[in-house]
Amino acid sequence: MSANDVVLAITGASGSAYALRLAQVLLAAGKHLHLVVSGAARQVMARELEAEFPGNGAAAAEWLAMIELTLAGPIGSAWGFRPLAASNAAFPQGSVRAYGTSDYSAGIASGSFLTSGMVICPCSMGTLSAIATGASTNLIQRAADVHLKERRPLVLVPRETPLSLIQLENMTRLSHAGATIMPSMPGFYHQPMQIADLVDFVVARILDHLHVEHTLMERWGAENESFTKGVRNQ
Ligand SMILES: Cc1cc2nc3c(=O)[nH]c(=O)nc-3n(C[C@H](O)[C@H](O)[C@H](O)COP(=O)(O)O)c2cc1C
Repeated sequence: MSANDVVLAITGASGSAYALRLAQVLLAAGKHLHLVVSGAARQVMARELEAEFPGNGAAAAEWLAMIELTLAGPIGSAWGFRPLAASNAAFPQGSVRAYGTSDYSAGIASGSFLTSGMVICPCSMGTLSAIATGASTNLIQRAADVHLKERRPLVLVPRETPLSLIQLENMTRLSHAGATIMPSMPGFYHQPMQIADLVDFVVARILDHLHVEHTLMERWGAENESFTKGVRNQ
């Protein structure tokens, strides 16, 4: 356990590709990923990317293979995902530990387990609501609760539209409690040409909030040409 540890929870909102791309970059950055995948997230993944998450206890290599195969598979390649610039034979430098949603004895269920933060990507309205009320009815909600009470970074990436008053109030409440609400809302000012560019836009913003370096897209106002421009370099 160290500040290099990051919790990534994947829930059943649309946008499985965000989670895969995020996990790929975090592993390439050498992070120790603590993964929790909800049952609904598994359904959404099957629907959106025709892929299956590895089971709990699967090794980092199995996760990486699944991520790489899916992003390079028929849907992922049609969407324009390109390999990460840092990808090499030694990849991944990070590690993965996956937990079941009822595994309350996992380290991440306790405030004494140090992490540098937690991301829920994508975050369903159901999970968001449960965190907003402190329900803690599964490990994802409990770990989020822990990150709030320990005042560590908690980034929620919700996807829903339109939003009801209840959903808006839940987000406001969580923001007051210290969470970062980062809806999966890509901009278009970087002239995206492919779906992967839209995904990378959102993932880049999440990584910035976790203080993880990346070269997913050029920064607005940056003149450093070494940054990979998603569209132009294809
Ligand atoms: C294909 C599919 C897409 C879904 N998209 C969304 C979505 O974008 N946002 C959302 O809040 N829920 C969405 N749902 C519903 C959630 O999966 C459902 O509310 C579930 O109970 C969430 O459980 P979880 O938070 O434990 O993952 C979707 C479900 C399916 C099957």
